[in-house]
Amino acid sequence: MNTDSLFKPFSLKTLNTKNRIVMAPMTRSFSPGGVPTDAVAEYYAKRAAGQVGLILSEGTVINRPSSSADPNIPHFYGDQALAGWQKVINDVHAAGAQMGPQIWHQGVMENHASGWLPATPFEGPSALQRPGFENGIPMTDAAIADTIAAFGQAAADAKALGYDTVEIHGAHQYLIDQFFWDATNTRTDIYGGKTLSERTRFAVEVIKEVRKRVGEDFALIIRLSQFKPAAYDFKLAKNESEMEQWLTPLVDAGIDILHCSQRRFWEPEFEGSDLNFAGWAKKITGKATITVGSVGLDGDFFGAFAGQSSQPSSLEELVRRMDRGDFDLVAVGRPLLSDANWVEKIKNNHLDELKGFSKEALAELV
Ligand SMILES: Cc1cc2nc3c(=O)[nH]c(=O)nc-3n(C[C@H](O)[C@H](O)[C@H](O)COP(=O)(O)O)c2cc1C
Repeated sequence: MNTDSLFKPFSLKTLNTKNRIVMAPMTRSFSPGGVPTDAVAEYYAKRAAGQVGLILSEGTVINRPSSSADPNIPHFYGDQALAGWQKVINDVHAAGAQMGPQIWHQGVMENHASGWLPATPFEGPSALQRPGFENGIPMTDAAIADTIAAFGQAAADAKALGYDTVEIHGAHQYLIDQFFWDATNTRTDIYGGKTLSERTRFAVEVIKEVRKRVGEDFALIIRLSQFKPAAYDFKLAKNESEMEQWLTPLVDAGIDILHCSQRRFWEPEFEGSDLNFAGWAKKITGKATITVGSVGLDGDFFGAFAGQSSQPSSLEELVRRMDRGDFDLVAVGRPLLSDANWVEKIKNNHLDELKGFSKEALAELV
């Protein structure tokens, strides 16, 4: 199969990647006390050496007292954690890839299985983590302002450490997405509202602050998802016009690249067209997009969390859409967990050596 279109370089502001393949952000929880260890640096550097063009880090949390529900998720603040991230980017650059941290606030969460809790209650637009389940407190104006500033600081620190981009985590029912979703954003102030476009206000303020801190020339990505882990088939934007209401304010605030999270990239977003989320996002905004979701695998990532394995699958449909210009970049998650050399194998057409994904890959950093 001809995969040449996946191996063309890509340039946008500070991004200059050797191919179109992005390592998807994947939480590993191997950073005790929030500090990425040398093993974390080695893990990312191996993917860089294995020819990934752009690495997006696992979600790494900003400087707010309850931004994380897990003590082993890395921080993107504090001298020790930032020294860990300095080593990561130095090693990744030395191995030939570009990289950006995915900056994250988890919002209202379920308690961690270990019983560990942050110093202060979880916070979000309301107390709700999902309909019918409260596990936090609604953010005050002061908390909102400080959170926006903390996103800006994390982005400024990423740039200062030498990272090539930053991805704001606006997907998967975490803080920013909790503001998008009317089931969790029940506010009656300026951060709430009946329309999706009104509920983009928090994200818009985060993006503007981040843009102010990193400057115009720095590539900025946001990750978005229609689905919520609590509602797999949910769509925030139910048609093209609602998607326009959602994405236009984000792009106008300073986003360069929309990272459109789906469980299965081949699933059409709306009836009447086979375009997927990334395809619609590019068509509507004219911005570069990243597609993701079961690339090269026959099972999706929610199955992976339930312990299911997936086998390698053909890249033909992906390449067809790429060649048609639906999206610019392709993120790959689970195949890169078990195999640091997945990209190299695709490039050299060594398809018989692909490993697929099994849950054992989650147990350690290899
Ligand atoms: C172990 C694991 C951890 C993940 N952590 C994150 C995360 O921190 N941030 C995020 O946006 N998505 C996260 N995801 C979702 C992936 O980025 C990706 O969208 C998903 O796995 C689908 O891609 P795949 O089918 O190629 O694995 C995670 C997925 C897995 C399997």
